[in-house]
Amino acid sequence: MAEPLSSLESGVQAHLLSAVFNPEQVRLDVWNRLREEVTRLEARHAEGQVSPEHMEQVLSLFAEVHPIERLFVFPGEARLQRLAEMARRHDVEELAEEVRRLVGLLSLHRDRACLLTDLDGTRAAAPEGSHYFTTLVVDDMAAADFERVHRGMLEAQRGEHQFLYELLQVRSVEDALVAVLVNDDVQVCVVRQDLPLRSRSPVKQLRSTLEPILAEAERNGDEAGLVVARWVRRLRPHLNVYLITDESLVGREMHTERLFDRVFYRYESAHELNVTVVDGVRERYRTPFFDALKHYASRPIGNFHALPIARGHSVYNSRWLRDMGEFYGPNLFMAESSSTAGGLDSLLEPTGSIKQAQEKAAKTFGAQQTFFVTNGTSTANKIVHQTLLQPGDVVLIDRNCHKSHHYGLVLAGAHTVYLDAYPVREFAMYGGVALSTLKAKLLELKSAGRLDRVKLVVLTNCTFDGLVYHPERVMEELLAIKPDLAFLWDEAWFAYATFMPLARQRTAMRAAQKLAERLRSRAYREEYRAWRARRGDGDAVAGARALEERLLPDPDKVRVRVYATQSTHKSLSAFRQASMLHVWDEDFERRAAAPLTEAYFTHITTSPNHQLVASLDLARRQMDLEGFAMVKEAYQLAMRMRERLREDPLLHRYMRLLDAEQMVPEVFRGSGLNRYVGPGSAGVDEMTRAWAQDEFVLDPTRLTLFTALTGRNGFEFRSKVLMERLGIQVNHTSINTVLMNATIGVTWGSLSFLLDGLRHEAERLEATLAQATGAERRLFDAKVRAITEELPPLPDFSGFHPAFQPSGGVGEGDLRSAFFLAYREENAEFVTLPEAAQALDSGRRLVSTRFVVPYPPGFPILVPGQEVSPGIVEFMRKLDVKEVHGYRPELGLSVFTEDALERAASTPAPEVPEPRTRGPRHAPGHNGSTPATH
Ligand SMILES: Cc1ncc(COP(=O)(O)O)c(C=O)c1O
Repeated sequence: MAEPLSSLESGVQAHLLSAVFNPEQVRLDVWNRLREEVTRLEARHAEGQVSPEHMEQVLSLFAEVHPIERLFVFPGEARLQRLAEMARRHDVEELAEEVRRLVGLLSLHRDRACLLTDLDGTRAAAPEGSHYFTTLVVDDMAAADFERVHRGMLEAQRGEHQFLYELLQVRSVEDALVAVLVNDDVQVCVVRQDLPLRSRSPVKQLRSTLEPILAEAERNGDEAGLVVARWVRRLRPHLNVYLITDESLVGREMHTERLFDRVFYRYESAHELNVTVVDGVRERYRTPFFDALKHYASRPIGNFHALPIARGHSVYNSRWLRDMGEFYGPNLFMAESSSTAGGLDSLLEPTGSIKQAQEKAAKTFGAQQTFFVTNGTSTANKIVHQTLLQPGDVVLIDRNCHKSHHYGLVLAGAHTVYLDAYPVREFAMYGGVALSTLKAKLLELKSAGRLDRVKLVVLTNCTFDGLVYHPERVMEELLAIKPDLAFLWDEAWFAYATFMPLARQRTAMRAAQKLAERLRSRAYREEYRAWRARRGDGDAVAGARALEERLLPDPDKVRVRVYATQSTHKSLSAFRQASMLHVWDEDFERRAAAPLTEAYFTHITTSPNHQLVASLDLARRQMDLEGFAMVKEAYQLAMRMRERLREDPLLHRYMRLLDAEQMVPEVFRGSGLNRYVGPGSAGVDEMTRAWAQDEFVLDPTRLTLFTALTGRNGFEFRSKVLMERLGIQVNHTSINTVLMNATIGVTWGSLSFLLDGLRHEAERLEATLAQATGAERRLFDAKVRAITEELPPLPDFSGFHPAFQPSGGVGEGDLRSAFFLAYREENAEFVTLPEAAQALDSGRRLVSTRFVVPYPPGFPILVPGQEVSPGIVEFMRKLDVKEVHGYRPELGLSVFTEDALERAASTPAPEVPEPRTRGPRHAPGHNGSTPATH
């Protein structure tokens, strides 16, 4: 059941992404057409030429928009009916005026219940700062009954000024699901247990997607209310969902699967239902730490601790620092404190507002535990390494992972097995590590008798360039080989993914949860037993067959242990350096809680910045309440951007956004999805299948612009065109691309500005080339060739020198020994690149003392202890970038002297003790589980 449902889950989302089938867009388009039509009607009316056919045309537009308009409070069904009555009465002037007014308000505000206040006078005007939302009542009660409930709830809201809502009735499961998908203002669903499955007036664009859900419910005879709740939880898990039941249904078996936040017996108390609705949203809105900080800032507090800037005294009393105060504003200083008292709590030992904020974040991001980190994901990664690893443990890691991992492993003293991601040679970048590569390495370690030391797999999801793994699939197969393997998914760029089901299914936390549910189910036990029986006697996960076939973990042995680190600041509304560490670990208390505390104490500052912590709390709130709307919009903008660039022939001649077919090899695209836009682009079904099944997918919000056809490499294009001419900042560059992100902060205005700028650049280039002499043209062509056809081959990981290979033969490397060996000056020497090439030719082995990281591409082409290969030297010689960390062009590469290598080779690696099982050492602390002291 898991497969088809998850594919439907993404299918419903795929519909929203697709510009063609986007019902919200259809709705706005119809309203706009209506406006045009009534304006024409008005002109005809002035000439006395309105015919019944003209009116029919207007009425047919009302009919077209009706199925979806019913799912919005504003303008909504009742207003639509009033307009239709005006049309039938031939009240053309009033009709035209009202349509124009409504369309104007709609495009300004979309669905805002607050408009009701101004329009109908049904409410007293609410004060500034009120929050409006829609409560969806999924109930097929008669209109008169609904009106009574509506009135009761309106009455119950009197006196509430902060959280105001309108009720919206839908009468079927189908309407409820469509409303939840298209109406972003819905924050609460009140669902009756018993109601029809299918809509009487369906939104046709979504019918085929929803039909399998409805058909399945019908087949299984599922309770309709349960179907709604289950799907709301899948599509928008953050909404509050309440069940309404009544006497006719009492006693009917209803496994609510913890789907409902509360069950009500009919609408017996409007007051009780109202306070529950408001309280549910208030709780999601509540930001415990930010609220405490605001409160702290508003109190008169004398300050004798070590933070002169607190309350602004040292700034506002200064003659030379006033601009600091003016620029940052007083609140920043009022909220500065080094205190952990007065409601502010301590990040190192949270027991109050920070603890609560972390618990709320865990719920929002689908984790068991969440920890705030104020020194970025760089630090979060090191914390995870130190938590899960002891010296001598083995880690499988993508060599292209962020440098914080490599340094973290030096600190942890773990042995690394570097894995090569698949190369994307035409653009000098890497993709992800194929599952077959991961399996092959793990099986190799198994045959070498090293499996017991393998503790962790580290992968980046999504990669910088937007390639997304299938974490559930990866973890399932690797757990079949090593059932207690832990995973660290570096989601530095992927915090937004939780809020869009299409992407959520590929987040570490969702995958962990799904995997745990599946592996613990009775059905899985059966599946596993049957699979083992088919495999016959002996080791089911060894040999060539294990590599080719899909492997299943042993349910009696497997442990789901998953960690994810997210730079909240990279994709959500948090200040720089504000990150989160999410945990789904079945062995957390037993094996990780105490080491995590120690790791936290090792890496986290004792002076965390309160503003960063507060921004994490706030970013969580925003995503809980509007993450769905914002992320959906970011995807839609990205798709529009892709379409515009593809459709414009001039732009397409010089600049192209890379699509799935360029960045994901066919072998990983089982769905057959080639591209999101352009001829033969993905339909909804393909997109659905791709996200549900493919080994890798490309996230369309990561926009990689291929710049080589402009004759500029990525770096030049960024600095000369984007920064200098257009004032546009982008994410990063490769040799022939620049990467842009459509985040929740991007608007259509900013994308249009970018498009205009690119168009202008293309026109300029076209004009220059038209006037170019033959020689100039040849020069241009040669430049294009150099950054398209003549790229240096990407060097694979060459391997560790035997002196730094503790177990020999399996590729394990002892980074830490090599790293510290280089601390003694006499152990290292510099060789220039030509000298290095010569030395290698003459048979000398050169071994790097350092991490060498060119930007771009930004991955370490050398790590301490790694052999320098001719390919690496060639790559470096051809590399045309300014910034290469760990390499000084005037001196050359730093390598070990032959002496140092000889000594290192003859020194036996220190014996590493077998890890002891850590005792159940834990004390109150983070989320009530870990000990902490200052
Ligand atoms: C994949 C990856 N992980 C971790 C980091 C570090 O994140 P932060 O900047 O939050 O320390 C980055 C930074 O670019 C990154 O790209």
